[in-house]
Amino acid sequence: MKISALLFGLLAGTLSALPLGALAQQPIVIKFSHVVAHDTPKGLAAEFFAKKAGEMTKGKVKVEVYANSTLYKDKEEMEALQLGAVQMLAPSLAKFGPLGVKEFELFDLPYVFDNYTELHRVTQGPVGQSLLKKLEPKGVTGLAFWDNGFKSFSANTPIKTPADLKGKKLRIQSSKVLEEQIRALSALPQVMAFSEVYQALQTGVVDGTENPVSNLYTQKMHEVQKYLTMTEHGYLGYAVIVNKKFWEGLPADVRGQLEAAMKESTAYANKIAKEQNDKDLEGVKKSGKTQVYVPSAEEKLAFKKALAPVHAKMESRIGKDLLQSVYKETGFDPNKL
Ligand code: LMR
Repeated sequence: MKISALLFGLLAGTLSALPLGALAQQPIVIKFSHVVAHDTPKGLAAEFFAKKAGEMTKGKVKVEVYANSTLYKDKEEMEALQLGAVQMLAPSLAKFGPLGVKEFELFDLPYVFDNYTELHRVTQGPVGQSLLKKLEPKGVTGLAFWDNGFKSFSANTPIKTPADLKGKKLRIQSSKVLEEQIRALSALPQVMAFSEVYQALQTGVVDGTENPVSNLYTQKMHEVQKYLTMTEHGYLGYAVIVNKKFWEGLPADVRGQLEAAMKESTAYANKIAKEQNDKDLEGVKKSGKTQVYVPSAEEKLAFKKALAPVHAKMESRIGKDLLQSVYKETGFDPNKL
């Protein structure tokens, strides 16, 4: 834990909470911390928001973006937000369980979304809105959902069938649904902060991992993973969240301008997500370090069937009604494969 960073953040949080008159000419600072590289869907969207927020508030707000876990790692950033040491984050939807909002893990269910269109029916519709509301009692306000993409498995041995992952140690994010997913493959789940994955793969602490290609490529994981199979077995995206007290303490006009900036940034994030992932897949291929394998429809079905039991096992964790409302939007039925 970077104590100095936490104290610094707390001090900055206190200053930004001072009566506005006291700091009339000082901009309100929003520290936006995240764990991925700058040139990822989330990294670029965070910078886009910083620019828009400055423009739309006419300089009344200054958004400082801290990429690549430079300020906080996964678990710490959630704590820092609740303490007010940072004001804004965009953690992946797989990281809300430790905050006590386990319903977000529905996004981790294997193959529940076939594409971005199905996904947006959930994230940009009433189900998404009801999920964001669940954050309020935790002192957190949810502003938007930002896309990344669909995760694929990588390892140092070829992956063509679910059996190829048997016994492998696979790094995952802190989600019980992901743990169950890895167990369904008879593999061993290892929860680990994103910032530690490259080294864990390099030193063999874990054998493989899952992520959208944009995360794999920008962290150079392809340099330490010989095989990437485009299983696209699950979705990875983000909820943009703010410290509730800070947000509600903003002057109403400034908050409205920031909401407008967020709306534009969300459209931008969700436009570039696929483009970035497609571009980075080309980067992985060109590097010549990782062999990219696209499974046939039959091979993909074998993964779908192997992972389908995760849905029933996790139903009580996610909530039956919520799950049914997601299936209704996407048309997915784990019993009909
Ligand atoms: C991961 O930890 O694998 C990802 O959630 C990182 C991110 O924020 O995209």
